[in-house]
Amino acid sequence: MNDKTAGRPRALPADKALIADEMEQTRQRTLGLFDLAREEHLHRSPGFGYRPIIWHLAHIGAFEEHWILQRAKGDAPLDQSYMRLFDPIKTPREESRDLPSRREMEEYLGRVRERTLSFLERASFVVDEPLLRDAYVFHLVLEHERQHQETLLYLFHLLPPEEKKAPQLINETHNAGTGGARSAASTLCDARSGWVRVPAGECVVGAVWPGFAYDNELPVHVVQLPTFEIMRAPVTNADYLRFVEEDGYRRRELWSDQGWEWREREGWTAPLYWQRDGGEWTLRTMFDRRPLPLDHPVWGISWYEAEAYAHFIGKRLPTEIEWERAASWDGARKRRYAWGDEQPSAERCNFGMERWGTTPVDAFAQGHSACGCLDMTGNVWEWTASAFGPYEGFQPFPYREYSAEWFDGDHCVLKGGSWATSASVLRTSFRNFFRRHFRVAFAGLRCAADV
Ligand code: AVJ
Ligand code: FE
Repeated sequence: MNDKTAGRPRALPADKALIADEMEQTRQRTLGLFDLAREEHLHRSPGFGYRPIIWHLAHIGAFEEHWILQRAKGDAPLDQSYMRLFDPIKTPREESRDLPSRREMEEYLGRVRERTLSFLERASFVVDEPLLRDAYVFHLVLEHERQHQETLLYLFHLLPPEEKKAPQLINETHNAGTGGARSAASTLCDARSGWVRVPAGECVVGAVWPGFAYDNELPVHVVQLPTFEIMRAPVTNADYLRFVEEDGYRRRELWSDQGWEWREREGWTAPLYWQRDGGEWTLRTMFDRRPLPLDHPVWGISWYEAEAYAHFIGKRLPTEIEWERAASWDGARKRRYAWGDEQPSAERCNFGMERWGTTPVDAFAQGHSACGCLDMTGNVWEWTASAFGPYEGFQPFPYREYSAEWFDGDHCVLKGGSWATSASVLRTSFRNFFRRHFRVAFAGLRCAADV
């Protein structure tokens, strides 16, 4: 760790055909997402002051143009107004209005992509230039587009079901809520009430593997942890319903000062998509409203609500390091996913927008971590107690606005990924981060306790 590359992400030896292929597949999915609603709905804010959904389409192209064509290759901008309008810092939310049509944006994306692919063909990745070494920018652009796909689903979720059209691939077995994925996990352990004791020991923190990682996952380091307990599975809707019905949202003592302030101001009384119809609680999913699925994880809650829930049961949130140890440490080495290093698959977790919603927390017996925790990879993100911050020796790369800008004490770390997270983002070292009051993510929690 002595030269200026210390702590910098390293990328896999580039396989150009594979990169081109992944870029194409990722793009097809991105374009397909915009078929979920008619264009008129894409040009309005979906709520909470967010940018129109369509903004993200050109933003994805502008990010690719900026990093691959301008920064790595050295080209001049194709279109100055696009570079300004679709840069989230240059054009704040309130000014992201009157946007070009979907068709015009798609043409722009096509022009960028054509140039990207021809650059990919002739670029050398065995170089000192850190943006190009091991094809770093290409992986950055891929990962960025996949993360925006998930953000797009948060925004589409805000639209009322009658404004959306379910894509063809949705069928009964792949449907959210009806428990398409079911397994014998409940015979393995009592997933819903169980706790796991994680013995004192070390946690290898960060991205130890070769291949793409963000600056905030580095440098890799080792932390000693005392024994702690962590819930075997995420907090379910049934668990959280108790909190709601036993006045959790009105008991001031369960809330931090800031959390209570937000609760009061926003009028929170239940998770974002819950609704009480007569005596029955229902949940709005992507395409319908249904009875609250009790064995699914709760989500649609802010960090403050997660914290209040933990207080309600006399527990706390895990730190991100505790979470990472419970998810990735097998006693000898660090696993890339909860179950090991094999790629995510439908037998092991709910990921990659395959099901368009959550699954029961004990659906994936084969996906458990070494210490026996279920659902650590996929289904819903999990809020941790940790504010998002730099590891010792952190170096911003390739730009401050990816991570460093958000080391502000208000952003907290979320781990694990959701049903809408792409495989490449599911690594146990990945640190997602949102503001504490943010509720639109597919994010819930599991609790921890000292022993
Ligand atoms: C890591 C998901 C919080 O969406 O703001 C997208 C990812 N960074 N474009 C975000 C990101 C730049 C980021 N999150
Ligand atoms: Fe972005």
